[in-house]
Amino acid sequence: MSEDKSTILVTGGAGYIGSHAVLALKNAGYNVIILDNLSYGHREIVEEVLQVELIVGDTSDRALLDQLFTTHNIAAVMHFAAFIAVGESVTDPAKYYRNNVSGTLTLLEAMVAASINKFVFSSTCALYGIPKTVPLVEDHPQDPISPYATSKWMVERILSDFDQAYDLKSVCFRYFNAAGADPTGLLGEDHEPETHLIPLVLFAALGKRESVSIFGTDYPTRDGTCLRDYIHVNDLAQAHVLGLEYLLKGEKSNVFNLGNGSGFSVREVIESAKEVTGKDIKIVERDRRPGDPPVLVGSSDKAKSVLGWNPQYPNINDILTHAWQWHQKRHR
Ligand code: UFG
Repeated sequence: MSEDKSTILVTGGAGYIGSHAVLALKNAGYNVIILDNLSYGHREIVEEVLQVELIVGDTSDRALLDQLFTTHNIAAVMHFAAFIAVGESVTDPAKYYRNNVSGTLTLLEAMVAASINKFVFSSTCALYGIPKTVPLVEDHPQDPISPYATSKWMVERILSDFDQAYDLKSVCFRYFNAAGADPTGLLGEDHEPETHLIPLVLFAALGKRESVSIFGTDYPTRDGTCLRDYIHVNDLAQAHVLGLEYLLKGEKSNVFNLGNGSGFSVREVIESAKEVTGKDIKIVERDRRPGDPPVLVGSSDKAKSVLGWNPQYPNINDILTHAWQWHQKRHR
């Protein structure tokens, strides 16, 4: 007899990383309910691809959450719903603290009231700030330099206190640079506005943009451009399933980096994208973008040893190939 698996609430499941996690959960046999206010998420992805229940609403809507938790038997919550634009968070921090911190606090309080005590949280390596040592490990000092990163750092602090006080167990995943798309081409990255390097490079390859900008060519790196640790979104999704199962087994709260442990420069990403797409990509060299650390590379040894995480697509060409399949389909 097949095991009757639990129901998991995924907030932000209509968004980029959330939608890939929903697919991974479904493939692992879980029932999934999505809560998404569709401010950035995509209804058609849920209806046409994921085909799970979608509740359109906000994590700050306590009455909705109370109703949801009393009418569904939810074993755990995976929380992706958050604003992610680092630059915007500097000019409009209130938007970030209200949604990412206050919205999450309401969600956590509703969970405590409903005696749901397992929480998987989408955090960021940006909470380390400018790295003092690389690769970054989980106990590297935390010194977030943007309101976006601070909002994630605050939630991690809240989670630690909620564990002490209410026995709410959590796994926080600190992602490096999420990229790529499901290899089927059915899911992928679709932000509006788009600010991330890989989609912008691929837009240039598609002819949707004239060129791609390189922000800073005078960094102390091998070719003067920033190094980032790109991690395939399906590998992130898989880690979330493992993190959930770790909590369902009754393990203690924990935090894990999720990256590949190797850095690619902006120029290297563009060169690989030229190879993968077979297109010429015009480059415009610009000044540094404020707030960009020269190198962000992480060690994920802890996720590998504690959770048994084993990334399937560490190769930047695979990441770009899958992203390219998605963007070609999306924008044809
Ligand atoms: N870059 C360019 N040109 C562009 C866009 C980006 O040169 O048009 C550069 C950036 O300066 C940076 C690198 O490409 O050096 C990667 O930039 P992204 O915007 O793709 O990603 P970030 O590293 O800035 O940010 C990502 C996530 C954040 C997360 C952060 C953690 O978007 O949510 O990683 O480092 F906080």
